[in-house]
Amino acid sequence: MSMDASSTSTASRSDWRRTHHCGALRKSDVGARVTLNGWVDARRDHGGIYFVDLRDRYGITQVVLGPEQAEAAKLGAEFTVSVTGKVVARDAQNVNPERPTGEIDVQVERLEILSRSEQPPFTIADENVALETRFTYRYLDLRRPQMQRNLMHRSRFINAMRRAFERQDFVEVETPILTRATPEGARDYLVPSRVHPGKFYALPQSPQLFKQILMVAGMDRYFQVARCFRDEDLRADRQPEFTQLDMEMSFVEEEDVFATWERVLQETFREAMQLEVAIPFPRLTWKQSMERFGNDKPDMRFGMELVDLAAWASSSEFAVFKGAIDAGGRVMGIAVPAAHALSRKDIEALETLAKGSGAKGLAYWKAGAAGGSGPLARFCVGERATLLMQALGAAEGDTCLFMAGKQSLVWRVLGELRNHLGKRFGLAQGAWRFTWVTSFPMFEFDEGEGRWFSAHHPFTAPADWEMGGANPDLASLVSRAYDLVLNGWELGSGSVRIHRSDVQQKVFTILGIGPEEQQKKFGFLLEALSYGAPPHAGLAVGLDRLTALSLGLDNIRDMLAFPKTTSATDLMCAAPSEVAPEQLFEVHIRSAVPPPAPGA
Ligand code: AMO
Ligand code: AMP
Repeated sequence: MSMDASSTSTASRSDWRRTHHCGALRKSDVGARVTLNGWVDARRDHGGIYFVDLRDRYGITQVVLGPEQAEAAKLGAEFTVSVTGKVVARDAQNVNPERPTGEIDVQVERLEILSRSEQPPFTIADENVALETRFTYRYLDLRRPQMQRNLMHRSRFINAMRRAFERQDFVEVETPILTRATPEGARDYLVPSRVHPGKFYALPQSPQLFKQILMVAGMDRYFQVARCFRDEDLRADRQPEFTQLDMEMSFVEEEDVFATWERVLQETFREAMQLEVAIPFPRLTWKQSMERFGNDKPDMRFGMELVDLAAWASSSEFAVFKGAIDAGGRVMGIAVPAAHALSRKDIEALETLAKGSGAKGLAYWKAGAAGGSGPLARFCVGERATLLMQALGAAEGDTCLFMAGKQSLVWRVLGELRNHLGKRFGLAQGAWRFTWVTSFPMFEFDEGEGRWFSAHHPFTAPADWEMGGANPDLASLVSRAYDLVLNGWELGSGSVRIHRSDVQQKVFTILGIGPEEQQKKFGFLLEALSYGAPPHAGLAVGLDRLTALSLGLDNIRDMLAFPKTTSATDLMCAAPSEVAPEQLFEVHIRSAVPPPAPGA
């Protein structure tokens, strides 16, 4: 705390220091002489008597200043003060039941201004402050009780998690921040080396290789609250630096990782939030998830699942549907219960949404045994209507939406529509519905780059160590990767790992990483695997996401003390920034960007 205080005080040095914080005093304290420190949250002038709300992290206490407190008139918003006085009971009609301290006031006998404040750019209690302003004045933004609640929650939550892992014999090990690139699919943040001209460290996208090496080293059970860095496009659930609860275990399979996490999460929610999470979590294979929800992070809080309509479509006279099936594509639909009415205009808006995701159109049908209505009605004559209703599980009056085309497009568009409708009808709320999604594909083909990528990362074990022999059908290979999903968000990812050097080399080769590059980039891993590597598996959960979701927040930035904007800038300290030419010179770098003009 500021030592300036003593210079403006005539009392002894530490007289100003608090006896209680601003959330502590109750009716049982009436009569006590107390000292409080805090910020002036609000000041009301009742004809020479001032009522001041004094705020700190713990709460707000109302203090009362009479005319003898000359300084009281000078108090402005966000001044820090010290007051000493007697706790007095409020009259019954003045009790504030909303506040834990609402039954008392402090009648001030001594007021001391510890520090003045400029007029703040916004009122701390204001909920509608522009994001740029909040980020620029983050220290004021963080004074808001709700932001302090977020940070306190995060701390409580993560510490409970640490204890839960320790109870299961996990050891926390810190891994380097200055390291070399690990392929997690994003761009690296690079740090130039001064000592080694022309060479760079990469900041870790995750501790993936270190934790595998720790398994080879015999640590058996590792975890870490690990900072990760990824240069990628930001969204509500993505920050350029974020935190994982990263873990790895030896001599285990999927089941062991699942059981460990289920226990950790159950104990953490219980300890940090007094909430019971039901375990075991339900499981879906990747294929089931795609078929039923259209994506690999299903929101399991509501139905309206996707339905395959191949049989109905292939015998239909609707050219779009029949054509899609004949071309090897899919026709799928979802039935929106009649209780959630959708007007023509609503459906047009849904079609626009679908087109935005690459669909050519969105067919719809108001289900009815007598043929229903909408563009599809003319293909629903006679028993065709009841057949379609049966296939969809639709009732009279339900709005049915259909997509025909390539499987990936049909899944994506209907999956997005389902999530959209879930939000719109308020179905996507309440309860924490964790789900494991398992058996992801091993590889994905990138049309743009014309090559295969790992669906998870290159260290993920295939379901079958032989990987289909000499000429495998790469598209159909299944991996031992799994995701932990919560309410439509990917919370964590992991896999059983490759612990065999030969299989690891084969995977690298499929990914187009030749023997020389393998040695250069991953030689240390391949070598480590050749010295008795135990079978191992692990998972990393995004802590920013988990703590945000546990409070029902829809953006992780409110869970970070100092987040970055969508353009990856820190508005408070203005990072990134230019550096002096000498600094660049020292690390052997010449900028291709001309230096800013003097005075610019
Ligand atoms: P993955 O890349 O899937 O796996 O990341 C694991 C989890 O980290 C969180 N996450 C993020 N959170 C905020 N901002 C980001 N930019 C961001 N990127 C990822 C997500 C995600 O599920 N090494 C592997 C894990 C393993 O195999 O054990 C890995 O990092 O919640
Ligand atoms: P059309 O025969 O092109 O007039 O289309 C008839 C209906 O089918 C319209 O409601 C279109 O939006 C819809 N439609 C067109 N293409 C598709 C598709 N690939 N999947 C689903 N519906 C479609």
